[in-house]
Amino acid sequence: METSSEKLIRLLEEKKSQAKQGGGELRVKRQHDKGKLSARERLNLLLDEGSFHEMDMFVTHRSHDFDMEKNKFLTDGVITGYGTIDGRKVFVFSQDFSIFGGSLSEAFAEKICKAMDFALKTGTPIIGLNDSGGARIQEGVVSLAGYADIFLKNTLVSGVIPQISAILGPCAGGAVYSPAITDFIFMAKKTSHMFVTGPEVVKTVTHEKVSMEDLGGADTHASKSGVAHFACDNEVAVLQGIRKLMSYLPSNNMENPPVLDSDDDPGRQDMDLDTIIPSNPNKPYDMHQVIQRIMDIDSFFEVHADFGTNIICGFARINGQSIGIVANQPAHLAGVLDINSSVKAARFVRFLDAFNIPIITFVDVPGFLPGTDQEWGGIIKHGAKLLFAFAEATVPKITIITRKAYGGAYDVMSSKHIRGDLNFAWPTAEIAVMGPKGAVEIIWKKDLKDADDPEKKTEELIKYYRRKFANPYIAAERGYIDDVIVPHTTRVKLISGLEILAEKVDHNPKKKHGNIPL
Ligand code: HXC
Repeated sequence: METSSEKLIRLLEEKKSQAKQGGGELRVKRQHDKGKLSARERLNLLLDEGSFHEMDMFVTHRSHDFDMEKNKFLTDGVITGYGTIDGRKVFVFSQDFSIFGGSLSEAFAEKICKAMDFALKTGTPIIGLNDSGGARIQEGVVSLAGYADIFLKNTLVSGVIPQISAILGPCAGGAVYSPAITDFIFMAKKTSHMFVTGPEVVKTVTHEKVSMEDLGGADTHASKSGVAHFACDNEVAVLQGIRKLMSYLPSNNMENPPVLDSDDDPGRQDMDLDTIIPSNPNKPYDMHQVIQRIMDIDSFFEVHADFGTNIICGFARINGQSIGIVANQPAHLAGVLDINSSVKAARFVRFLDAFNIPIITFVDVPGFLPGTDQEWGGIIKHGAKLLFAFAEATVPKITIITRKAYGGAYDVMSSKHIRGDLNFAWPTAEIAVMGPKGAVEIIWKKDLKDADDPEKKTEELIKYYRRKFANPYIAAERGYIDDVIVPHTTRVKLISGLEILAEKVDHNPKKKHGNIPL
């Protein structure tokens, strides 16, 4: 015979089981048929097994229009709660497309805001899995208000706890702005889309014909717009990617990033680094090779791998310590700084600084990209973002100039002058106002005009200039470079540099906030 408390427990379990069915078998099947996982399946893959604790499962909407009171589902279309990733706490919300298309109601927004408030007061990262038809049409402006409440919280917690977004379905209209404020966006190829206005509206307004995928698919945002930091082959890869990203991050801005045990010898010296720079200074090489040979084996995790590829940004570990890398990439556009690479790196540097992650900068930069596209597109203000970001960063900053460091770009790339803590150069470094050819043509313009054989004379002068200026020693004489190091010792130098900087204290003047040239 069932006791009254057993009956209450049974009823509770029935209710919970009902909540776990989402919008019902048929709608979950439709979700699977589209190649998407259900909201709960996603959480199971994201979090450590059995670690999820759900909150607000019994919430339903409060709408009475359009007969909505007859149509209620437990959770109201978003699953919220907390769990762990590799044993570390995270808050999560997972939008459930099987309930009203994951559309956002007043109650739905309140649940997300509550999870964010908890995340803030407990100093815990928040991860949002987005799959939603946008504002719940039946709730009208109340739903818009709910979005705004989330945008405000996204803004207020920015820089206090890491915020990570996965886009796993539609994300349109103003709804895109919550993920856009968060620190990192992951998208799943083919099944996720982000746009302010969809293909139909685009066609009406601009007469352009464009598919959903071309307009706002994962590849588009990971390579053209830079809105997404990661485009993954499928949802499982997205969720694994988030777990991996988390391993480099502290839980909040008062913590240091995690230090993991490393199997890689801290004293390892890769002799190939000594010959990695081609003898011809105009020949490219792949900076990834430099990074991989110096960092702990297989620890490099690239961010924005397909956007602004003339600069490399990513997390790595060295002797187990989590660090952020910003590196010019001579294999793309000769490693020049342009609008996209400047904006990409500036945002990354600011993230690293906000979360106490040391910045390692590898420099091989011939300058800023010339041209009307760049000038009219505002390379001045966009390049200034990177300068500003490096200059205001107070985390440990170590810079290694491998080859070219020319002109303003030398200053920008975490130079000593903008508070680089340890600035090293390889003997192959060329630190100068500009490259030898340009310099010779300007300084000796008249001599070259009068020369019997201008080509020969140019070659001679280039050789002279290179000997005199295109080397690291003039900067080293002044202390702008702390040491000129043999390339194969770079790993050891970085590890000891990070150790000496571990307790670094530096502050910016007291202010409400700076005015980065946005
Ligand atoms: C209420 C919605 C909904 C919405 C979808 N549904 N979107 N319910 N409000 N916004 C419901 C559908 O009625 C349906 O319910 C179920 O979700 C699945 O939708 P389908 O259309 O069958 O799915 P699919 O064919 O996959 O199409 C998905 C979709 C489409 C592309 C998202 O549903 C769609 O275009 N929805 C409207 C999108 C939109 O315009 N939203 C408002 C944007 S403005 P049943 O009961 O049949 O399962 C906005 C402003 C935000 O969001 C501003 C913030 C400041």
